Amino acid sequence: MMPGEAIAGLDLKPGVTVVDGTFGGGGHSRLIAERIQPGGTLIAIDRDIDADARFEALAGRYRALGAFFQGSYSDMTGFATSLNLERVDGILLDLGFSSLQMDDPARGFSFQLDGPLDMRFDRDGSRSASSLVNEAEESDLADIFYQYGEERQSRRIARAIVRVRQNTPIETTHQLANIVEKSLGGRRGARVHPATRVFQALRIAVNTELDELALGLRAGVELLGPGGRFVVISFHSLEDRIVKRFFAAEARGCVCPPQVPICVCGREPRLRLIGRAVKPSPSEVAANPRSRSAVLRVAERLA
Ligand SMILES: C[S@@+](CC[C@H](N)C(=O)[O-])C[C@H]1O[C@@H](n2cnc3c(N)ncnc32)[C@H](O)[C@@H]1O
Repeated sequence: MMPGEAIAGLDLKPGVTVVDGTFGGGGHSRLIAERIQPGGTLIAIDRDIDADARFEALAGRYRALGAFFQGSYSDMTGFATSLNLERVDGILLDLGFSSLQMDDPARGFSFQLDGPLDMRFDRDGSRSASSLVNEAEESDLADIFYQYGEERQSRRIARAIVRVRQNTPIETTHQLANIVEKSLGGRRGARVHPATRVFQALRIAVNTELDELALGLRAGVELLGPGGRFVVISFHSLEDRIVKRFFAAEARGCVCPPQVPICVCGREPRLRLIGRAVKPSPSEVAANPRSRSAVLRVAERLA
C-alpha cells in the first residue's frame, strides 16, 4: 500500500542496508531491492513462513541481496546481528495482514470466506483465534472486542459467543460471523459487515500486534544509524496512535512533566519527523477499500 510514498520516505541509495520487517508478498521489497543494488543488503522479516519462498524468488534475481528471517520484526536487532550488522539505513513496517493471507480461506482471516478460525501469522506459534473464542472468559472476550475492535456492542457479542460454545465449539469463520450478526439483530443495512470489528479485534489479540508494534518501534530506533529512515504504514487508528505518539516522543526527547521549569531527564531527541502523515488518495481507496484507514509516517534518526 502507498508503495511510492513508502519508498520515497526510505530515501534509498545503492549499497545501503534496509530492514523490511513485514515482507508479505514482497511488493515493497522488490522496489527496495531495485534501488539498493549493487551492494545493498535487505533484511527481510515476516512471521509467516510462506514469505520465505517469495523472498527466495526475489533474491534469485540479485547477487547477495540479503536474507529472510521468519520471526517478528521486534527481533530485528538479533537478525541484523546474525549478519554482523550493527546499524541499518532504513526500516519499513507495513502493518497488518497481506491480501495473500486474507484471500486464503485456510488462514481464517476473512469472514467472507469459510475456513478454520485460525488468524495466526505464524501457524506454529501463538494461540489460534478458535482457541481464544472457545476458551477465554466472557469478560476477556468483551474487552478484546471493545479495545481492539472499538466495538460498542462488545458485551452482547461475547455473551452470544459463550451461549453458543456451551453446546458447540466455534471452529469456522462463518460460524463466528453468523453468531456476531445474529447477536446484533442482523445486518440492519450497515455499510460494513457487523463481524468486521470482531475479526479485527481477534486478529490483533491472537498475534499480540500492538505489543509487537511498541517493541518493534523501540528496537528500530536503536538499530537505525544516523540519517536512517523509519517508515511505518499502519492499517487502523489503534496502530497509528502508537506510531504517532512514539515518533512525537522521540522527536521531543525530554520526558519531564510540563510543570518542571528546566529539563532534568536529560533525554535528547533521537528522531526528526519527515513531512506529515500521508493517507491514501481517493482513487487508492476506491481501488482497495481495505486501505481506507491506512496512514504512512516517516521519521529520520538523528546522530
Ligand atoms: C500488509 S502485509 C505486508 C505487505 C508487503 N509490504 C508487500 O509489499 O507485499 C503485512 C505482513 O506483515 C506480517 N507481520 C505481521 N506482524 C508481524 C510481525 N510482528 N513481525 C513480522 N511480520 C509481521 C504479516 O504476516 C504480513 O505478511
